[in-house]
Amino acid sequence: MQIFLDTADVSEISSRLEAGLVDGVTTNPSLIVKAGADIFEAITQICALVDGPISAEVVATQAEGMIEEGKKLRAIADNVVVKLPLTAQGLIACRALSDEGIPTNVTLCFSVNQALLAAKAGATFVSPFVGRIEDMGGDGIGLLEDIRRVYDHYGYMTQILAASLRSMAHVEAAAMVGCDAATIPPQIFDGLVKHPLTDKGLEAFLNDWAKTGRNGLK
Ligand code: G3P
Repeated sequence: MQIFLDTADVSEISSRLEAGLVDGVTTNPSLIVKAGADIFEAITQICALVDGPISAEVVATQAEGMIEEGKKLRAIADNVVVKLPLTAQGLIACRALSDEGIPTNVTLCFSVNQALLAAKAGATFVSPFVGRIEDMGGDGIGLLEDIRRVYDHYGYMTQILAASLRSMAHVEAAAMVGCDAATIPPQIFDGLVKHPLTDKGLEAFLNDWAKTGRNGLK
């Protein structure tokens, strides 16, 4: 499963690249505002840092404006993915951009029907919002599972990008149901490696090794 960081904060990204675990980045207008960044500057910097897909979202609400903004964002770098809302206008823009070979991420997906339409419009990624579905008492992970089943059934190539993930359990579940990618807030990304038994086990190994009196493996 590809792991994307869900942030527009360049320092949050650059400090997490060393192990080569970050496959891409997703941003949205709220994250750009939160980072206090200019969208064009932020996306330019992020694209230079990370080789993989970098989602940058349009703010127009009509297809024509979305297409224009999408092309402007795409002109920043070859790894920009144009993020579009899952509306009727967004799907028109998705089809137009896809037909021109521009990758797209159709976001704010809350149902199987929406995901089906995104795939039919040629979306590269669809982003179901797990946390926000749970906020409403729904089954966000169940939605990921259902979309996986439908896409596999018809052979759609649109990649399922689990979004609005708010816990490590969400990330694990997204992987278990076969999502192609998950976008994760940096703090949750940091938590993925942690397990108390790893810390405890390592401490015991090192304590035992210290009894040999050897300095490391020298
Ligand atoms: O990737 C979408 C994400 O940024 C939304 O997350 O927690 O605001 O629902 P959240």
